[in-house]
Amino acid sequence: MTSPDSLDPSDWQDFRTQGHRMLDDMLDYLEHIRERPVWQPIPQDVRDKFNQGLPQEPGDLAAAHESFMRDVLPFAIGNAHPGFMGWVHGGGTPVGMLAEMLAAGLNANLGGRDQMPVEVERQVVQWVRELFGFPESASGLFVTGTSMANLIGVLVARTATLGTGVRLAGLAASDKRLIAYTSAGAHGCIAQAMDLSGLGIDALRVIPVNDQYQMNIAALEQAIAADRCAGFSPFFIAGTAGTVDVGAIDNLTALADIAQKEGLWFHVDGAYGALGMLAPDIAPRLEGIGRANSIALDFHKWGQVPYDAGFILVRDGKLHYDTFASPAAYLRRETRGMAAGSPWPCDFGPDLSRGFRALKTWFTIKIYGAKKLGQIISNTCTLAQYMKQRIEATPELELLAPVSLNIVCFRYRSEDADRVNAKIVVALQESGIAAPSTTTIHEHLAIRAAIVNHRTNSGDIDALINATIAFGNAHAKSIQD
Ligand SMILES: Cc1ncc(COP(=O)(O)O)c(C=O)c1O
Repeated sequence: MTSPDSLDPSDWQDFRTQGHRMLDDMLDYLEHIRERPVWQPIPQDVRDKFNQGLPQEPGDLAAAHESFMRDVLPFAIGNAHPGFMGWVHGGGTPVGMLAEMLAAGLNANLGGRDQMPVEVERQVVQWVRELFGFPESASGLFVTGTSMANLIGVLVARTATLGTGVRLAGLAASDKRLIAYTSAGAHGCIAQAMDLSGLGIDALRVIPVNDQYQMNIAALEQAIAADRCAGFSPFFIAGTAGTVDVGAIDNLTALADIAQKEGLWFHVDGAYGALGMLAPDIAPRLEGIGRANSIALDFHKWGQVPYDAGFILVRDGKLHYDTFASPAAYLRRETRGMAAGSPWPCDFGPDLSRGFRALKTWFTIKIYGAKKLGQIISNTCTLAQYMKQRIEATPELELLAPVSLNIVCFRYRSEDADRVNAKIVVALQESGIAAPSTTTIHEHLAIRAAIVNHRTNSGDIDALINATIAFGNAHAKSIQD
């Protein structure tokens, strides 16, 4: 008998029926996603419905569900849709969705304590270690995303350089000016990590890229030498495996060699690219990644795990622990009972309360298997090559950057190209046919298609290309008329 004071349903049978309806609606959504527009503009009256005062009285679950189906679901960003190619968004899977439901039902807090959910996370950590050939002593942790994982990488490297004393005394107590290096193609969250860690964005050297958009190795060496000459302390190199703009992979072996020679921490931002290790045709291009001191990656991108599922892997687990572990009376450890099982995940990052991200990742890997996930990754790269060929075979279009992995940057040729292509992208998005985003390549606006979703096929690529040509031609014609 449910207590009337609790939040559990007073009629479980009714609730169960409603719950099954909600599950069916989401399965219908995923099964028929192709029939929907990728994205559609949000009508003002729909927006207005979410600008109301705090509800004081109980509401009806069926009505809230209806509101979700009517007002929220159709106006999501659409990254589950095969035509979505904006930014770098994963598609998610029905399996991941079900795993999220199980995790939410269990409501486990993975900060620590002796519980099987933490063992599930440890299992995934072990798989990640195995994938990158890291030793048993390496540590890993689920985090929100690579932005957080990169920050953790910087903080562990800071401890490696200044010792754990920095946690007490802070940076101001050190006379060393720590300097980090990354490429001009790196994601903005590397600079943000420098900012948040207190090292400062000015202490990040942004090294130019070569014609393949990889960090220029000679320029990196010169920058390190110049900083040493100036009395600074180089400490950190962040290579990128899959740059956000064009999908370039830095020469990770060369970076590892330099880091080794110079005694610097070698971090890899592998937000989406690191999982290329699952694909036999991509893995050789990531050579050197296994020599990193730390790797940041996202299962929610190429790994197709529903948001969010970022991850940090650190070769020296002890150093990782020393960077974050903090004794507290209320977190006392035991060898038996619920407070056993130390170290706990909260000893490896800033979060104490943590959700069960590991479960949807465990399910995804168990159900699809590493091979199939690798094939999905390869397939997105094959589709990118197909898109490149279509662009090269279309006189109205031009490619703006090499296609290294799964990202294609191109534009419609026009005298007023930046303005026209910005308009084309908005028209594409509003048409619901396809959803690329934009970036800037050599100071020109590019249409950028990142093929990440396992549902995308060559028909979706054709739809994007054909619609781009049609919108571009229509625009050109409207100018002539
Ligand atoms: C190379 C790279 N690094 C970092 C990030 C940030 O990752 P997240 O959004 O998971 O924090 C991205 C996101 O696309 C990325 O492509």
